[in-house]
Amino acid sequence: MIRMAREIPLIMMKEIGYTYPNGTRALKNINLNIFTGELIGIMGRNGAGKTSLIRTLNGLIRPTSGNIYIKNENINSKSIATLSKIVGIIFQNPFHQLFANSVEEEINFSLRSLNLSKEEIQKRTDQTLLEFDLEKYRKRSPLNLSGGESKKLAAASIICRDPQILIFDEPTLGQDAKEIEFFINLINNERKKRKTIILITHNIEFAYEYIPRTILMTEGQIIADGSTKEVLNNEFLIGQTSLILPQICQFYLALQELGLQEINKISSKNDMTDYLRNLIKNKSSKI
Ligand SMILES: Nc1ncnc2c1ncn2[C@@H]1O[C@H](COP(=O)(O)OP(=O)(O)OP(=O)(O)O)[C@@H](O)[C@H]1O
Ligand SMILES: [Mg+2]
Repeated sequence: MIRMAREIPLIMMKEIGYTYPNGTRALKNINLNIFTGELIGIMGRNGAGKTSLIRTLNGLIRPTSGNIYIKNENINSKSIATLSKIVGIIFQNPFHQLFANSVEEEINFSLRSLNLSKEEIQKRTDQTLLEFDLEKYRKRSPLNLSGGESKKLAAASIICRDPQILIFDEPTLGQDAKEIEFFINLINNERKKRKTIILITHNIEFAYEYIPRTILMTEGQIIADGSTKEVLNNEFLIGQTSLILPQICQFYLALQELGLQEINKISSKNDMTDYLRNLIKNKSSKI
């Protein structure tokens, strides 16, 4: 993506600190800039502060030090209701956000705070149910959906509001392959609309393949911020965060250990396939 040299970040976090009322220091001196249209991953071990970090973005928790600017405005004095129109968070546990009596009502209710006409609300509700393949559950209670379906409804109830910034906490957790594919398409569509997307994930293979930029956190701090391929290839950084290297990087190291030193850095399935194809071709031509 081409970025103007003087583009102002959409989100600017400056020296953010947060201590929970029980004294836990969840965030320490966080400095982070996120630009319009970016897709960013946040990774790190359990308790690193990832969820706390994103909760500051729609005012669910207010930093105990530092400032956050969205579209160059300090969000300190903005209400959760105002911020929720710009920042949509889809939480780890969908039942923390679902509460209506039916799937249809869940979407309907979410749209009601947007100052839309009754007809427009119904139109958007119908459209969302279709897009998310939830039409067949329209009258069903969200409590009677499967884990994966309720996660999808939670996403639908936020995305129908069309927020400019979308944040997902562990979107692929517990999802089967078809739902992960649905999610990837969803992300791609939202990116075409220039949405800014932040994903918290422990799924290293997913991050390695789909997320261009990754932030690594430990103990309330950001310890790395850069291209996902570089960050997740770095054994030292990975060691700090209880993650494991992506399989492709492990495979590359194993080839190096076998003495295949001359190989170029392999960082994708395509690189690996090309490398193995050449290796086999060269071998068979020597026979
Ligand atoms: N409501 C709360 N009250 C007190 N401490 C909290 C609260 N929520 C989280 N914490 C603590 O703050 C720290 C950061 O928690 P947070 O939920 O942000 O981590 P996380 O990186 O999202 O972890 P996970 O990967 O397990 O979801 C942890 O030490 C946690 O125990
Ligand atoms: Mg969390």
